[in-house]
Amino acid sequence: MKKRAITLYINGDEYNLNIPVHHTLLQVIRDHLNLTDVKYGCGRGECGACTVLLDVGKGKRKTVLACVALAATMDGKSITTAAGLAKNGDLHPVQKAFVDESAIQCGFCTPGMVLKSVSILEKNPKPTEVEIRRGLEGNICRCTGYVKIIKAVQVASKKIAAGKR
Ligand code: FES
Ligand code: FES
Repeated sequence: MKKRAITLYINGDEYNLNIPVHHTLLQVIRDHLNLTDVKYGCGRGECGACTVLLDVGKGKRKTVLACVALAATMDGKSITTAAGLAKNGDLHPVQKAFVDESAIQCGFCTPGMVLKSVSILEKNPKPTEVEIRRGLEGNICRCTGYVKIIKAVQVASKKIAAGKR
C-alpha cells in the first residue's frame, strides 16, 4: 500500500502522520487520530456531517467536506473542527446560540452545521434568512426541521455584531 508522510494542524495541534495515499481526510481525522467530533454521515459529499474549516490564509477559512477530500492533499494545512471553536473555555457564539435556541436534537449533524454556520457568518456577518438557508443547503438535519438552526445563526449574527462571545 502506497503511503505518504503528511503534517496536519488540527485545532492548533500538530500531527505528523504516515497515511495511505487513498485515505480521505475524514478517515485520517476519525480513524487515525480518533477525533470523533467530525461525523461520518453519507461518506459521499451529500450530507455535510463531515464538514471542517480549512485555513486558506490571510485569516480566511472555508469549509471542506472531509469525506471527499484526500488527506494527502491537506499536507501542511490548518484545520478547525467543532471541538476547536471554543476559546479559553468559552463556546463560540454560534455554538452558544445552538444550545440557547435548542437547535440540537440527536446532535449528529450539529458539528458540521455549526462549522458551516461559522463560515457563513465569517463571509457575511449579517446574512438574511434566505442567505442562511442557501448557505446551509448542503448540511442535512433529519431532526430539527431547520427552523431553530436558522434562528440560532441569526442570534449568533447579532451577538457577534454586538462584540459578544
Ligand atoms: S459524510 Fe461527508 S458529506 Fe456526508
Ligand atoms: S439534530 Fe439530529 S440530524 Fe440534526
